Amino acid sequence: MMKRIVLSALLMGTLLFGGCRCDKQQEAAAPTYETVLANILQRKSVRSYTSDTIPSEVMENLLRAAMAAPSGRDWRPWSFVVITDKSRLGEIFEGNFNMPKFEQAAAIVVICADTVVALPPSDNSDMEPTVQVNHLWRDDMGAVTENLLLLAEAYGLGACWTACYPYADRMEPVKRALALPSTVVPYCVVPLGYPAGNEQPKDKWDPSRVHYNLW
Ligand SMILES: Cc1cc2nc3c(=O)[nH]c(=O)nc-3n(C[C@H](O)[C@H](O)[C@H](O)COP(=O)(O)O)c2cc1C
Repeated sequence: MMKRIVLSALLMGTLLFGGCRCDKQQEAAAPTYETVLANILQRKSVRSYTSDTIPSEVMENLLRAAMAAPSGRDWRPWSFVVITDKSRLGEIFEGNFNMPKFEQAAAIVVICADTVVALPPSDNSDMEPTVQVNHLWRDDMGAVTENLLLLAEAYGLGACWTACYPYADRMEPVKRALALPSTVVPYCVVPLGYPAGNEQPKDKWDPSRVHYNLW
């Protein structure tokens, strides 16, 4: 009888504490190269969407991934305008966007960049901050956009990088309708929604583009 009680206690302990250890390990587990590579190779542009909406926690994680991008001098020039009010689409995207299905998207993220940075005074005086042009903002924004697209792919969402910068006929209506500050550029527009079709990723691997040690 005593033996049975001890064995039961041991089994319970293993289940309880062994289980906890396993959960902790899962929490801390880094993604494997296989999952990262699969995510990158699966990404594709998707331009038509179902009527399903995107949960707010998914949207927040997409923006979290975007803001994790590398940034020149770590100036992080990005801001995001998330549009879900479809009644304003005509006004915002009246420019020549090559994207007829904006109205199907559950949300449209306008990825913006501040092209100047306000640097705090180097001493502790109450002087005005100095303003400096950020020549690296375009590079930062490409990384931001790709981060968002990759997590969208992992969530099973469809998305498409849609250029805004450098086309004046796309940027001007967006700047006006969203009341962007004068130094803020709408870099690109990413419509997001669950895919209505069955788009497949392109195989772009081309070993002839790779040179070792000399062109
Ligand atoms: C800088 C840039 C601008 C783009 N602009 C548009 C656009 O205005 N309209 C559009 O439908 N797709 C646009 N795309 C998506 C490309 O057409 C797409 O990435 C390309 O055809 C490769 O297909 P994939 O994304 O499925 O691999 C753009 C992509 C990039 C990187």
